[in-house]
Amino acid sequence: MKVTAVAPSNIAFIKYWGVIDDMLRLPANTNISMNLSNLLTTTTVEFNSSFKEDEILFNGKKEENVSSRAIAQLNRIRKLANISEKAKVVTENNFPTSTGLSSSASGFAALSDAGAKAAGLNLSEKELSILARLGSGSACRSIPDGITEWKEGNSSETSYAVSLYPHDYWDLVDVVAVVSVSKKDINTSEGHKLANTSPFFATRLSLINKKVELLKKYLQEKNFTAFGELIEAEALEFHAILITSTPSLLYWFPQTIRVMKQVKKWRSEGLAVYFTINTGQDVHVLCQKKDAEKVAKFVEEIDEVQQVIINTSAQGARLVAAHLF
Ligand code: PMV
Repeated sequence: MKVTAVAPSNIAFIKYWGVIDDMLRLPANTNISMNLSNLLTTTTVEFNSSFKEDEILFNGKKEENVSSRAIAQLNRIRKLANISEKAKVVTENNFPTSTGLSSSASGFAALSDAGAKAAGLNLSEKELSILARLGSGSACRSIPDGITEWKEGNSSETSYAVSLYPHDYWDLVDVVAVVSVSKKDINTSEGHKLANTSPFFATRLSLINKKVELLKKYLQEKNFTAFGELIEAEALEFHAILITSTPSLLYWFPQTIRVMKQVKKWRSEGLAVYFTINTGQDVHVLCQKKDAEKVAKFVEEIDEVQQVIINTSAQGARLVAAHLF
């Protein structure tokens, strides 16, 4: 049986950075994100006894580094379902990959959702979130609806994401400024292991729960100014950890800083707009729907910006009827 799922990428307002268990991908801290409506992975999976080996086609090609992690995830699914059939997986992203737009989040959420169903499993949202987490940590947040919280937990069974608010709760808009499609040199799986090498990481962890509580309060109040101040400061703190790790992780390009400065300038001129950045060069510019058209136009007009992707808050991974093969 073929099964197809579509899953969104997500943008973390409080970042997942550092692991307490590398194999299980248990995060060093609770973190919160929003699913993105226009950064999507679609994946079709079929298990069949006539297949000799797993075949993974990613954006039309076989890619070594994608395949090994995808096969590890297929193995987890086979073990859960107690089957041995090999699989064919066709997966497509509608956005650039490995540039800091969290393609592994949407990718592993879609693969887990479609793969589990194709293997005959009927997993709950919690079980799917745990499965997705084992593929790529932040993927667990792309399973539930809207704005989601991944509680750190202390075991595989207690570390998963839940929806804090459905996707239509608040009209937040994330205008993504793509400044380059160059791929990053150190991926996040490697990066998480370096978090402890920053002298500031312990301080971050000592303050993070307070920050999580404050963010939840601002979300509850729909206080955009307090929300924006918090997420921008969090992004800068996160990059301070990256920059002061050994080896140092410096993901920003000159174009990245250009967009950050521009956001600050627009804000000083009265526009309610804030930025956040993951492990990559692209910038997520957050605003409210009433300002979104203006913000998108402003971002587009920056010379260094190659592409603008406008996102609202989205539902999590879901099964769809149209297959890719
Ligand atoms: O899920 P991973 O291993 O790709 O890590 C994601 C890390 C960040 O995107 C930088 C932060 C986050 O919480 O999404």
